[in-house]
Amino acid sequence: MQNPSVPALFRRIASKYDRMNRLMTLGMDIGWRRKSVKHLREMQPNRLLDLAAGTGDFALVASQELLSLREVYLVDITPEMLALAPPKKPKRSDLHWHTIVADAHQLPFEEGYFDAITVGYGVRNFSERLTALREMYRVLRTGGIALVLETGIPTHPFWKALFWTYFRLYVPLIGAVFAGDKDAYTYLPESTAAFPHRDRFLYLCREAGFSENTYIEFMGGASILYKLRKT
Ligand SMILES: C[S@@+](CC[C@H](N)C(=O)[O-])C[C@H]1O[C@@H](n2cnc3c(N)ncnc32)[C@H](O)[C@@H]1O
Repeated sequence: MQNPSVPALFRRIASKYDRMNRLMTLGMDIGWRRKSVKHLREMQPNRLLDLAAGTGDFALVASQELLSLREVYLVDITPEMLALAPPKKPKRSDLHWHTIVADAHQLPFEEGYFDAITVGYGVRNFSERLTALREMYRVLRTGGIALVLETGIPTHPFWKALFWTYFRLYVPLIGAVFAGDKDAYTYLPESTAAFPHRDRFLYLCREAGFSENTYIEFMGGASILYKLRKT
């Protein structure tokens, strides 16, 4: 069950969400999503779940990069975020986008329905991460891959200090100025600090059933891509 304050927060910032992402990451977030979905190319997925899809940026790059895709399901708990996604669908007649309002802790799909799953900056927001990871495992087919892209914390001491200064001072400030919501952009560094990064997250993924799990870092670990398999 999701903590109700999370959808309420995303409802407030939905219309500013994309612009804030570009401002905070200086446009690099799109490149991180694009590099991430390339890890699915080899398996040529047909049906993809983009969980916590928000305004659809991960689904957009997946649809551009993975021409094998025929069905993309964008699932999110906040209707106001999801409402901004459909115009981003690439004009491909062989591709169908389905937007569904649902909770990651209880997915409305049968077992093994998806070839692949993407979750961009979503898992951090789930109230019961192990439950949601188990749901992802359940709806993924055997041999499928789940990609979890999350905020990270750099390990190099200099970069880490710079990163926290940026994240704890600049991000809430631009959140206040450009989104009119300092609280939402204070939640971002706080939830990043509380997240179990790297091996601690992989441990949780193993508990959920995933195996052969790895991660790669973007920008010194400011963003981390976790690649999980159902074998
Ligand atoms: C930071 S946004 C990420 C959006 C998008 N994936 C991206 O890459 O930009 C997090 C999203 O997670 C969604 N979310 C939070 N808890 C959820 C839950 N329990 N089930 C489904 N979506 C959830 C929020 O509504 C929000 O749209």
